[in-house]
Amino acid sequence: MPDLLQQLDALSRGARDAVARVADEKALEDLRVRFLGKKGELSAVLRGMGQLSAEERPRVGEVANRVKEEVEALLDGARRRLEGAKLEAELAGPPIDVTLPPRRLLPRGHRHPITRATDEIAGIFARLGYEVASGPEIELDWYNFEALNIPPDHPARDMQDTFYADESTLRHGVEPGTVLLRTHTSPVQIRSMKRIGKPPVRIICPGRVYRSDYDQTHSPMFHQVEGLCVDEAITFADLKGTLAAFARAYFGAGTRTRFRPSYFPFVEPGAEVDVSCSICGGSGKKDGRRCGTCKETGWLEVLGAGMVHPKVLENGGIDSKRYTGFAFGMGVERMAMLRHGIDDLRLYFENDLRFLEQF
Ligand code: PHE
Repeated sequence: MPDLLQQLDALSRGARDAVARVADEKALEDLRVRFLGKKGELSAVLRGMGQLSAEERPRVGEVANRVKEEVEALLDGARRRLEGAKLEAELAGPPIDVTLPPRRLLPRGHRHPITRATDEIAGIFARLGYEVASGPEIELDWYNFEALNIPPDHPARDMQDTFYADESTLRHGVEPGTVLLRTHTSPVQIRSMKRIGKPPVRIICPGRVYRSDYDQTHSPMFHQVEGLCVDEAITFADLKGTLAAFARAYFGAGTRTRFRPSYFPFVEPGAEVDVSCSICGGSGKKDGRRCGTCKETGWLEVLGAGMVHPKVLENGGIDSKRYTGFAFGMGVERMAMLRHGIDDLRLYFENDLRFLEQF
């Protein structure tokens, strides 16, 4: 028995000694294993207790417990001491400059050229006092066609043939064919007039539109920016002035505009608007050769526009005797293509970095 007590005494002294000299966390962990581990010194002593008599055992057990607690306290104290010392060392060391710019491990990306063109177009109209509006891409036939003066059998529907959601609408108990992917942003004209109620209405609406088209200059999904201005005494001159100012802001100060009569059921009169070619400056020639962007004509067709049809104003809840307005719509991909001389619209959606990184 005195044997075991001596061993415990020696263990306790050994621990005090060793822990006082420990210099890092790894060594501290080694000490814990050496004294308190399953195969450590304390376990060895406890194993010897099997030989003790019934009177001796509790006494030795008590001492063993005390020694165990002592060693645990020593190890804890040492751990706190080491942590404190580490913090001191960090604080004493060279300070971390949190204002230092990050190192560029990855190249910085940028917004997609379509997003940038959209933001730029919206920004120009924002400076002219237009508010940005939006509407659903999954639209009711009524907003997309009927309210815009395009009845069910109107031939203008063929030009904008789209994706109808017959089956799902049947399942939801709505009349078949009344829900579709919007073919243009013009339904937002109606929605905005209804929302704002009383003129002045001055909105632009950038957004995705869908048509069953696919070739070099058409994709089944593309982006438009719609514009609508309704107030008292709005005339065609306001439309011309607004779009001329826009064209100069987007394509450059010297840009000229021309209006050609055209037909859209929701405007009267209607026009297609051309701007002088941004690549050849309107001359039709680039570096002595034929300009491919305007096909030598010097003009680029960029948007549709016109005076809002009285029926459309009425469908938007606006008194067409008192108010007039103009509307226009442009394709964002096309605007960006014309400015940068890009000849295939599909490039925008292939996400090839060799293309995207040029912007
Ligand atoms: N919504 C027409 C289209 O997509 C463009 C347009 C808008 C024309 C507004 C006139 C007025 O072709």
